[in-house]
Amino acid sequence: MTTRPRKGSAGTPAPGKLPLPEVAEMKRRGDRIVMITAYDAPSARIADAAGVDLILVGDSAAMVVLGHDSTVPATMDEMLMLTRAVTRGAQRPLVIADLPFGSYHVSVEQALESAIRFVKEGQADAVKLEGAGPMLARVRALTDAGIPVMGHLGLTPQTATMLGGFKAQGRTATKAVQLYDDALALQAAGCFSLVLEAVPSPVAARITEALDIPTIGIGAGPDCDGQILVLHDLLGLTFQEPPKFARRYANVGELISQAVREYCADVQNANFPSDAESYHAPSAIKSGKPIRIAR
Ligand code: KIV
Repeated sequence: MTTRPRKGSAGTPAPGKLPLPEVAEMKRRGDRIVMITAYDAPSARIADAAGVDLILVGDSAAMVVLGHDSTVPATMDEMLMLTRAVTRGAQRPLVIADLPFGSYHVSVEQALESAIRFVKEGQADAVKLEGAGPMLARVRALTDAGIPVMGHLGLTPQTATMLGGFKAQGRTATKAVQLYDDALALQAAGCFSLVLEAVPSPVAARITEALDIPTIGIGAGPDCDGQILVLHDLLGLTFQEPPKFARRYANVGELISQAVREYCADVQNANFPSDAESYHAPSAIKSGKPIRIAR
């Protein structure tokens, strides 16, 4: 097992890390960018070994690992702990930490303080925040401070209530134009890439074409520069109906259930542990002779 090389100094990428400008280069070359969420070190290691380019420590963790109904309850402390675990596990992929709801909404200063904690304490390479409008000033301040920012438009789960729920966005001409304008504004504010979530494919394609920075789609069709999926959706490890856009590549939930059921049966039937899984003692203890304790 390899250990994660330490960062050389503040702002210097660790050896082997995908350089940030390479993300834009990938768009220019037409190479598809692969992004996935991860919330712990083993998943980050697996994603890294599989060739993932970008890992998002998404606040989807609130729903898929912490058992909440929305992303809103995710706290700074929870997200920092998960980010630290992921950055310990990932070497090549850039690790992007989601700023949780309420950690950047109050002011530009609050956004700076929160993002700096993710970079210093979490060792994240970048942060992600949702929305445009008032968020543009946050993006400018963070990038001025040397913290790369990924934007997020379309279905923005932290404000899903305002959007009428977890629904596709940009489905009228006016809303599609608003999305397009917001995407250009986020690019101008300094975002290095942009997540488009639950956006009609033609709208995402038009935005992708207009931007120099790469778009990363989730439910935004095939024409984005990259794609992201929530790890637990991809693995089949969620307990709610997965979103329409999530492709399930495995049924890990069923594998885990099967393994735990077998373990229960083995304990109940005295089939676990076996002799090979047990520690052995000197023959004196086995034969019941008194043991002399060496002093
Ligand atoms: O929190 C998350 O996992 C996300 C992705 C769905 C883009 O924001």
